[in-house]
Amino acid sequence: MSSQSSRPDLIPQTTADAAERDYFFENPPPPALEKHSGQAKEFIDFHAPAGRRVVLVTSGGTTVPLERQTVRFIDNFSAGTRGATSAEYFLEAGYAVIFLHRQFSLQPYSRHYSHATDCFLDFLHEGPDGSIVANEEYQSKMLEVLRRYNSAKKQNLLLTLPFTTINDYLFVLRSISQLMRPLGPDGLLYLAAAVSDFFVPPERMVEHKIQSTNATETQAVPEQTTKEQNEEETFDNFDSSPTVPRSKRLIVDLDPVPKFLKNLVDGWAPEGMIVSFKLETDPEILVRKAQYSLDRYQHHLVIGNLLSTRKWEVVFVAPNQSDTWIRVPRRRKKMTSSGIENMVGELGDKPLDPKDLPEGEPEMEI
Ligand code: PMT
Repeated sequence: MSSQSSRPDLIPQTTADAAERDYFFENPPPPALEKHSGQAKEFIDFHAPAGRRVVLVTSGGTTVPLERQTVRFIDNFSAGTRGATSAEYFLEAGYAVIFLHRQFSLQPYSRHYSHATDCFLDFLHEGPDGSIVANEEYQSKMLEVLRRYNSAKKQNLLLTLPFTTINDYLFVLRSISQLMRPLGPDGLLYLAAAVSDFFVPPERMVEHKIQSTNATETQAVPEQTTKEQNEEETFDNFDSSPTVPRSKRLIVDLDPVPKFLKNLVDGWAPEGMIVSFKLETDPEILVRKAQYSLDRYQHHLVIGNLLSTRKWEVVFVAPNQSDTWIRVPRRRKKMTSSGIENMVGELGDKPLDPKDLPEGEPEMEI
């Protein structure tokens, strides 16, 4: 605790308050915080007087830098499909959307084209008069997407703000949630980003690129090593692995990232509607973990999903309601005597087995 905490008005009320105070005191705000908060404020102030609902959609994965001048970082798998797709649906439903996304991850509308082929130029060809033309087979869908995108832009309904690191994300999430507070239940926080659970705290982060050799050290290298020295180099008493000496390994020591969902629900946006996501890989624990999250943080909805089936099904876990699985149909091409026909797969109450999923992407989105 800092010396400030001897003042009663600065004593944190709860462990969550203390974690918040410590984290935001010990970690530096990202350089773009002020700019992004200013843009969010302007956007909210534009829509609030008209009574339009505003949603903050978080999307994509946060990174955990290992060095201050970052060459290496730990990443999260998320492509941003869920967030970008959901943002489009929110826009269609009349929301104004603040899309807080991992830089260069999928974005609403452009997602249909940005990662769909090796190169977006594959959708285009040169017309007879030297103009650029969309390929025939993509034209109608592209026109529809373009119209929806332009309409959202024209009405100032979409604000996109990028983040990269877990620290960028937490600072801007706190700031925007607080800005949304006056919206009350007309402010929705939809937390689909894949947020790192562990990070390197600033006091343990090195400035420069972590070195894999000591080639820059000027000590003379002994021409011959003794038998004992050789054994020391090849035997490691850290985990008794004889393969690589400990001095040559990179051992990463991470602290837990505080779970700020509690702070968000209780303090940053207490009247807002809050939807969080729960990602697991083990189907046995998904619903239990989602229920635990709902009980612990007391918000409105947890949407659970499994890594392997996340594009095909999600489970809604809400207070005083039974769990609801939402699935997209599994259409398979099936050869019958009359030709190829679409078949919709059987749907049950339990999580899908990834082995039963058809290859490729679903034809619809959830
Ligand atoms: O982008 P896609 O490829 O389409 O994938 C979508 C998705 C699987 C990433 C998305 O649907 C999803 O599940 N996002 C949440 C992933 C996640 O961070 O799950 P979690 O179990 O680690 O965290 C649960 C909740 O706690 C999240 O709402 C998160 O915002 C919050 N959290 C997590 C860590 C942390 N330190 N503090 C938090 O508040």
